Amino acid sequence: MGAMSLGSSIGDKVVAGRAAYLLVHNTSEIVTADPEGGRVIRHPRGAIVFQDGNVVEVGPAGELSRRHTEARPINAHGRLLTPGLVDCHTHMIFAGNRAGEMQRRLAGEPYADIAASGGGIRSTVAATDAEREDALEKSLSARIERWRACGCTTVEVKSGYGVAPRAEIRMLELIRGAVQRVPTRVQRTALLLHALPEEYRDRRSEYVEEMRERILPEIETRGLADAVDVFCDPLAFTVDECRSLLVKARALGYPIKLHAEQLERSGGAALAAELGALSADHLESATLEDWQALGKAGVVGVLLPGAALTLGQKLPEARMLRETGARVAIATDFNPGSSPAQSLLECAALASRLCGFSAEEAFLAVTWNAAQALGLESQIGHLTPGTRGDAVVWECETLEELPYWMPAVRPDQVFVRGADLAFPALEGRVWP
Ligand code: NIG
Ligand code: FE
Repeated sequence: MGAMSLGSSIGDKVVAGRAAYLLVHNTSEIVTADPEGGRVIRHPRGAIVFQDGNVVEVGPAGELSRRHTEARPINAHGRLLTPGLVDCHTHMIFAGNRAGEMQRRLAGEPYADIAASGGGIRSTVAATDAEREDALEKSLSARIERWRACGCTTVEVKSGYGVAPRAEIRMLELIRGAVQRVPTRVQRTALLLHALPEEYRDRRSEYVEEMRERILPEIETRGLADAVDVFCDPLAFTVDECRSLLVKARALGYPIKLHAEQLERSGGAALAAELGALSADHLESATLEDWQALGKAGVVGVLLPGAALTLGQKLPEARMLRETGARVAIATDFNPGSSPAQSLLECAALASRLCGFSAEEAFLAVTWNAAQALGLESQIGHLTPGTRGDAVVWECETLEELPYWMPAVRPDQVFVRGADLAFPALEGRVWP
């Protein structure tokens, strides 16, 4: 399939010239996960070596400096070092904002009613359609840089605010353009059933067929995406509509994901388990049975506290989640409607409080587990020798501080592919 990550290959090229042989020492501790993501490993006062873009080893500083005399030493100044964070669910390519809508929601108007009256996803589709393409591309790359400044070295970006069949292809082309401007790894997801375009109002099945039989194969042929997603909800698309598109995507070799059990429980989690999806995301309305099915099928459950809080919904209790054995990731779901949340660590801090996660659970939810939600757990999300040299030195000393401070702590240094890159010059105005 044409689904190899363009993002990573371009990222590799950008950084390659600067990727050298580095030894980061004088940390307070290095925290990572074992290769299977089963437990958290802590190396007090540890050091780490990067070479040719990858992790070489993690261990006691004295020992590593004796073995790697040629490596350039970098002082972490007694601070915490972790793998780069992974935001496994965002809708970062859009124009405008829906701050006015949020005021209507706070005054009591339901999300579904706002959508039915022309607001919601369709209003962002209209704003995005009216925006210049170069501005969309530029704002997307600026956002990805903002995420890196918050410690995310891998970001998933979904299309989905095109909705008209050709417009979805265009969104994926613009994502491809933006990815070339940034060193961060970007996983591109084609969100193909998000909202029914107005012009298909009386032709639902025709739209689903068009997306499945023409748009999806074109995306595959042109290598425009790494995964395929749908919005399974009474407000959006039915289980059968979603199944028909996802089965085709799977046949083309794509990993699949679902927005499931968000506004109402409608069978999306069971469908994710049935089809062996990488992840089922949202799950605000999911039951214990749904979580058990995800746990059994090895589907990552992705919690989106920004959306749950903005739409006034509940998040599940960590105690219940532990019993089901399901893997849990946390993501921003960054979008202008349900989740204008711009810091993954902040989302982890919120989920920790709302669900009752320990610092180690919250850490795995934004590293190893989030990597698995993207099918990348063999390469990122932990600092096992041979994985990508993506890491962050934080402006704090202990793991427990990551979900503690609000606003969340910021990185002091970010390493991408083993290179210590300068911080992005964040543009004064990120919003188009
Ligand atoms: O993940 N649930 C579907 N899509 C987005 C919301 C989109 C919007 O409101 O613009 C989400 O929450
Ligand atoms: Fe989403």
